[in-house]
Amino acid sequence: VNHQTSGKRTGYVTDIPYTFRYQRELSPSLHWFAITGLGYQPGFHPLGSITYTELGCGYGLSLLIHAAGHPDSQFIGVDFIPEHIAAARRIAKAAGLTNVEFIETSFADLKSRNVPRQDVIALHGVWSWVDNENRGHILNFIDRCLKPSGVLYLSYNTLPGLAPVMGLREIMVTGFNRAQGTTLEKVEAAIRFAEDMRAAGAGFFAANPRAGQMLDRIKTLSRVYLAHEYFNADWWPFYHAQVADALRPLGLNYAASAHVLDNIEGLNLSATAQDRLAQTTDRTEREGLKDYFMLPDFRRDLYFRGTLQQVDNGPLLHSLRFAVADSPAAIDSITLTTSLGQIRPRRASALPILTAMQSGPASAIELMRNPACAGMGIDEIFDTLLVLCALGAADPAMPAHGQAARKARTDKLNEVLWELSLQDDSIHACASPVTGGGVGVERVEQFFLLARARGQEPAAFLKAAFGGAVQGDIAGDYARFVANRLPALNRLGIG
Ligand SMILES: C[S@@+](CC[C@H](N)C(=O)[O-])C[C@H]1O[C@@H](n2cnc3c(N)ncnc32)[C@H](O)[C@@H]1O
Repeated sequence: VNHQTSGKRTGYVTDIPYTFRYQRELSPSLHWFAITGLGYQPGFHPLGSITYTELGCGYGLSLLIHAAGHPDSQFIGVDFIPEHIAAARRIAKAAGLTNVEFIETSFADLKSRNVPRQDVIALHGVWSWVDNENRGHILNFIDRCLKPSGVLYLSYNTLPGLAPVMGLREIMVTGFNRAQGTTLEKVEAAIRFAEDMRAAGAGFFAANPRAGQMLDRIKTLSRVYLAHEYFNADWWPFYHAQVADALRPLGLNYAASAHVLDNIEGLNLSATAQDRLAQTTDRTEREGLKDYFMLPDFRRDLYFRGTLQQVDNGPLLHSLRFAVADSPAAIDSITLTTSLGQIRPRRASALPILTAMQSGPASAIELMRNPACAGMGIDEIFDTLLVLCALGAADPAMPAHGQAARKARTDKLNEVLWELSLQDDSIHACASPVTGGGVGVERVEQFFLLARARGQEPAAFLKAAFGGAVQGDIAGDYARFVANRLPALNRLGIG
């Protein structure tokens, strides 16, 4: 453990490998859509050829998936943990991906690397987990390598939402430092220590109910996840203004959230809150005040390098094709929670759109001509597509031309990922040639997809792979997969 061995706080948890994770908010198509949707114009179009670098890419699953789905674009991943880079390179090589490169280096040493100027620089789960010095190195890289009109994606733990959790984290770190044993045993001890403090009546928990709720939630989470999330030496939540102020000298201005739902104020803020915010014209102040109403733990900000100008993106957006996986029967599963409660698409608008989109991606203009959407206006259709996208049920689609070439690439990557799922349960996403992004898949779904790709009967395939460890009704599970799940995956070009 490169961490707190003598009561001194240093380092990053490096003894527990990070998990493979696909992050939708790292998708360049989604960045483009989020910014364009708010009436601004990024300097790149994700359907063309872009240059994209992710700092702190971990095992690079998001990059690998985006590289497979965007053949004309160039991707770079940077991380200082050799196992991360080695695993990512192995997968890229096995999948024959030549448009993604992984660089093993620390942010400090990045200055000596010759990286061409980038359309997009992205960091997910990094900014809050490194120290000030490293944030300085990251800023230097962005300053040197982000093109004018380029986009920065930066996520970070957010204040005031996490203010009560700061104290809880400190208690847990105290418990972690007192404990002996492996990192995972120390995480366990840290949780027990916080629990004991609460049981002993520490006033902190009474004064900060959210800290207690968080402790209850933490007890249910994977210890590996918790080791990375809370027990690095660095864990720094920020107010939006602090981040915006650090980026302003680089000519970066806040454009939008990559979590599209956060951009739709009507789904996040009461009328009174919206009235209050209407009195504030300064963008930074407004975003900061929004955080007092919405209380996010985590912000997923997109910044534009240059001065943002409002343009009429209506025609562009109305001709943008979207893809959906869900059938109309799945409408009740399309939901997310905001500070206003559970958000769902309006059935009367969403059902005809989902019906029309079963045969493939469509733009708002194309949907208007579809008989299933008869009588619906362009605004109603587009607003529904936007809400479906915000709830994770629709994604901007890549152009129809190039689909076959993309599918050959994503099929190859997916087969490599599914083969890895035979070894352990660590990868839970694969690539769609339709959206150019990732799709969540469970382990058993990956087994079934791999058996199909190899033209083998699933039960026999699983018996050959796992022998006697395979139990239960595989034929029945497979039949249910084919009936209930495969059509959605097929709509996204998978399987
Ligand atoms: C919390 S993980 C996030 C990984 C990935 N972006 C994700 O969201 O799944 C942070 C990543 O940043 C990398 N990292 C942390 N400090 C670094 C540094 N100084 N130089 C290079 N990489 C670093 C870690 O190795 C780790 O993979």
